[in-house]
Amino acid sequence: MDFIEYIKKEFINVKALDEQHEMIVQTLNKLYSLLANGDFTNFVKELEGFRELTRNHFEKENQLMITYKDPGYFSHQYEHSRISREIANGLNDAKNHPEKITIEFLEMLKRWFKNHLALKDQKLGKYLNSKGIY
Ligand SMILES: [Fe+2]
Ligand SMILES: [Fe+2]
Repeated sequence: MDFIEYIKKEFINVKALDEQHEMIVQTLNKLYSLLANGDFTNFVKELEGFRELTRNHFEKENQLMITYKDPGYFSHQYEHSRISREIANGLNDAKNHPEKITIEFLEMLKRWFKNHLALKDQKLGKYLNSKGIY
């Protein structure tokens, strides 16, 4: 079984964003198996990719919220910046204090992602759909 599953009811019905969410889930699964197998060198590389992926994804959502004047913008983008800091700290630890990186770090990212998807991205999807964006 995968570390994190992405299920149909979590799709937000905006194609580009759903595709990015899928990539995020796949990358978290890769990170999990690399860490579980003790392949730390590739773990760090993959985590760098994850930071880029999430950065692009958050920028895309933020930009859509601005363009379509989503009233939820402020708190939603704030959550993006908060988790971006956690990812940057994790990457810094992975490079400089690898002993600090445990599965708990990935568990935290997974919890964040699931909650964020349910509480923020689902609302964004509905809002964008109401503006004709799918
Ligand atoms: Fe989001
Ligand atoms: Fe998202």
